Amino acid sequence: MEFTEVVRKRRTIRDFSQEKVSPEIIEKALEAGLKAPSYNHLKEWNFVLVKDINTRFALTQTEKMIEEATDELKQTLQGYEALVKQMYMDAVPKQKKMILSAPELLVVVYKPKTQVSVSERVYDLNCLASVWCCIENILLSLADSEVYGVTFIPQNTFAIKKILNVPEPLEVAAIIPFGYRVADSKIYPQKEVKLVERLHTDTW
Ligand SMILES: Cc1cc2nc3c(=O)[nH]c(=O)nc-3n(C[C@H](O)[C@H](O)[C@H](O)COP(=O)(O)O)c2cc1C
Repeated sequence: MEFTEVVRKRRTIRDFSQEKVSPEIIEKALEAGLKAPSYNHLKEWNFVLVKDINTRFALTQTEKMIEEATDELKQTLQGYEALVKQMYMDAVPKQKKMILSAPELLVVVYKPKTQVSVSERVYDLNCLASVWCCIENILLSLADSEVYGVTFIPQNTFAIKKILNVPEPLEVAAIIPFGYRVADSKIYPQKEVKLVERLHTDTW
């Protein structure tokens, strides 16, 4: 696939078919992840593929996950742009299901330079920035193979680390359910952003 086509095709998918993704496709994507730029040249990233359903269930118990659009959710989204509201109304109730039933589940772990809670400057978050470069490479590589994912950011990473036996100094960047999309999987229009309105030359 052409590079621009891959970038266009990479979209967030939360409704997956049960078709397994081949180990070759997964390996290619993780290798692409490991080609991403890293702030200190060390690529301090690790991947955990979670296959065991009991472990997946434990992951879903680390925070509150609603399974249908509630009035409370509607209330919370009042005042949001229509496009955003539509996306959250669909996405929020799917969080638990996608973690439990996506054919593949990837947890991306990184070594923080400074714990997020004590970071004071953007510079302190270089490791987090780097691991997201890694994540985007993974998503683009998957899209190149017609495989799609969604980046779920857990709130209780301490509990996630305990469940997965991740060493304490490391941190969880994202949980990524991925697989082939079902024909009627929801894809919301991306926000249209005109480059001319965002590009500044020499000064804002
Ligand atoms: C940092 C980050 C955090 C996100 N967190 C979640 C999440 O917790 N759950 C979820 O379903 N989607 C999550 N998303 C996916 C966004 O909702 C999605 O990228 C956005 O709606 C744009 O859609 P697109 O990826 O198809 O372009 C996250 C994306 C990013 C970049």
